[in-house]
Amino acid sequence: MDKKRVFSGIQPTGNVHLGNYLGAIRRWAAEQGDKTNYFCVVDLHSLTVPQDPATLRFETRSLAALLLACGIDPHVSTVFIQSHVTAHAEGCWLLNCVTPLGWLQRMTQFKDKSTRQESVLTGLLDYPVLMAGDIILYDADEVPVGEDQKQHVELARDIAQRFNALYETEFFVVPQPKIATVAARVMGLDDPTVKMSKSLADKRGHAIRLLDEPDEILYAFKRAVTDSGREIRFSNDPEKAGVNNLLGIYQAVTGQDSAAVEADFAAARGYGDLKVRVAEVVIELLRPIQARHGELMDDTAELDRILAHGAEQARAVSQPKVDEMKRIMGLVLPG
Ligand code: TYM
Repeated sequence: MDKKRVFSGIQPTGNVHLGNYLGAIRRWAAEQGDKTNYFCVVDLHSLTVPQDPATLRFETRSLAALLLACGIDPHVSTVFIQSHVTAHAEGCWLLNCVTPLGWLQRMTQFKDKSTRQESVLTGLLDYPVLMAGDIILYDADEVPVGEDQKQHVELARDIAQRFNALYETEFFVVPQPKIATVAARVMGLDDPTVKMSKSLADKRGHAIRLLDEPDEILYAFKRAVTDSGREIRFSNDPEKAGVNNLLGIYQAVTGQDSAAVEADFAAARGYGDLKVRVAEVVIELLRPIQARHGELMDDTAELDRILAHGAEQARAVSQPKVDEMKRIMGLVLPG
């Protein structure tokens, strides 16, 4: 039987956090074995908001190292940098020309981000088309992402289907979003009504960044917003969103079912105990990842070699796909 094809991506801007890890990266690593995987550091997506070039260069390498440190095995999965494979930008243009503007204007992330910025770049509107190309140029069946990216993957499905319908072909595989059952949406520790996000991660106490020191992790958890009660159990009550988020993180890290998680806290003396215990399991989770990341960043020649090889493998799949797309669209003159 053919292996399922998986594509997913992550932006190198800012601070990769526990939400990114639990909602995406950890699942990529855990499920890579029996699939054909493409994991991409999407630096072109980062340019949709202004970037400092030196910082972007550094963050791109550091994130690639982090993916490997989190257990993504370059012998099993293709790991590469988006801008190293020109098919992504080329495919995006071609897909722009089959995508109605209204589809992009309706995207909730665009509406959200564009209202928070003074000057909105065209790339921000076009972001989901670039993402659709990422996915469908690899004939991906599955796209493992956190809850917040579901709408973008659904748009990728719509774009694939529209291309297929317009050109009367089955050229593009229609991908499926794969959302985690636990920790699909890790919330901010300082405000459990908003998702943990890279753009807020510079605010102390909002996020746990994967490279944070143990002291900083403990600090953020100790200050996590909860409620005035004492009961430590899962709940849909908006009042208990903070406790629910902490329990969700604990559950995702320990891999226990919800009854076992609640049992672990049956004898706890209030939220203080809960916060410290969650901090401890997260610190232990991140310790080996941080150590491995440090080693990889000490040998960037080896890292760059892995990324060059990944780009070569990615090109071998996506460039013929773009070439064929051009032929279907009438851009290649008969020889
Ligand atoms: P990005 O870089 O914002 O996030 C990377 C992954 O982390 C997930 N995530 C979360 N999961 C749980 N809780 C949270 N608080 C949380 N915050 C983020 C995201 O859902 C994502 O899976 N547009 C994408 C990158 C991208 C991509 C792609 C993804 C570009 N091309 C093709 C899949 C396929 C993004 O900005 O993710």
